[in-house]
Amino acid sequence: MLSWPYPLVFAHRLGGALAPENTLAGLLIAARQGVRAVECDVKLSADGEPFLLHDDTLQRTTNGSGPARQLTLAQLRELDAGGYFHPAFAGEALPLLEELATLCRVSGITVNLEIKPCPGCEAETGRVVAEAARRLWQGAAVPPLLSSFSAEALQAAGTVAPELPRGLLCVDLPADWPARLEAVGALALHCHHASLTRQRVEDLRAAGYAVMAYTVNDVKEARRLQSWGVDMLCTDRPDRLGELQSGI
Ligand code: G3P
Ligand code: MG
Repeated sequence: MLSWPYPLVFAHRLGGALAPENTLAGLLIAARQGVRAVECDVKLSADGEPFLLHDDTLQRTTNGSGPARQLTLAQLRELDAGGYFHPAFAGEALPLLEELATLCRVSGITVNLEIKPCPGCEAETGRVVAEAARRLWQGAAVPPLLSSFSAEALQAAGTVAPELPRGLLCVDLPADWPARLEAVGALALHCHHASLTRQRVEDLRAAGYAVMAYTVNDVKEARRLQSWGVDMLCTDRPDRLGELQSGI
C-alpha cells in the first residue's frame, strides 16, 4: 500500500452511539467531536434512489414498519428517523445520499459508504450507489471509499466506477481472503476487530491491502490494533477515539 488517503478514525453510522444512526444530526455531532471520517449504510428506495438506513426493515430506527424496499423515496422521507433515539431528535429524516455528500464536502469529512443492499438488490444497489458517488464526489480531494459485505454489490460498483476504492467487509477473516479481495478488486479488508491478530494484519498489509477494524469502542483495544498496523478504525465512540487521531 503506497499511499492510503483515509484517516484512522471513522464514526460508525455517522454519529456512532452519540446520535440516531445514519442521520445528518449524527454527522454534525461527530464533526463536533473532531471526526474527519464517517461510515454509513446506503440502500435503495422502491423507486431506485440511494438513501441511508442500516436495516432492511424500518421499525427499529424509524416510526415506520415493514421492508424499506417497498417504499418510494417520498414515502421514506415522511418518516421520523430520530425519535427512536431520543425525543430531542424527533423529526430527523432518512438522509439522501446527495445530502450526505453536500454536508461531507462542505465540512471536509471523508466517507466510507457501506453498500447495504436489500435482499435481491445486490448488483443494482452496487451500481446505483457507485454511479451516484462518482457524480456527487466528483473532484473531491479524497474519494468516497465503497465497502460491502456483498461481493456482488462490490463487483457491480467496480464496473461503473472502477476508480473509487473498494473495501470488502467480513466478520471473520476468511481463509481464502486473497482470492476474495482479488475477485472484487478491493484495496481494503474491513473486518470485525475480534477476528484480527497482529499476524493477520501484517499478512494483509504485506499483500498490499489496507485494513479496517470495526466496531472498536475501547481506547486500549484501538491502540493495540493501531500498533499492529490497522489503517482504519470504525467506532461508535468517536468522542473516545478522537485522541488517537490527533496522536495524543
Ligand atoms: O463498516 C463497518 C460496519 O458498519 C459493518 O457492520 O452492521 O454496522 O453495517 P454494520
Ligand atoms: Mg455499516
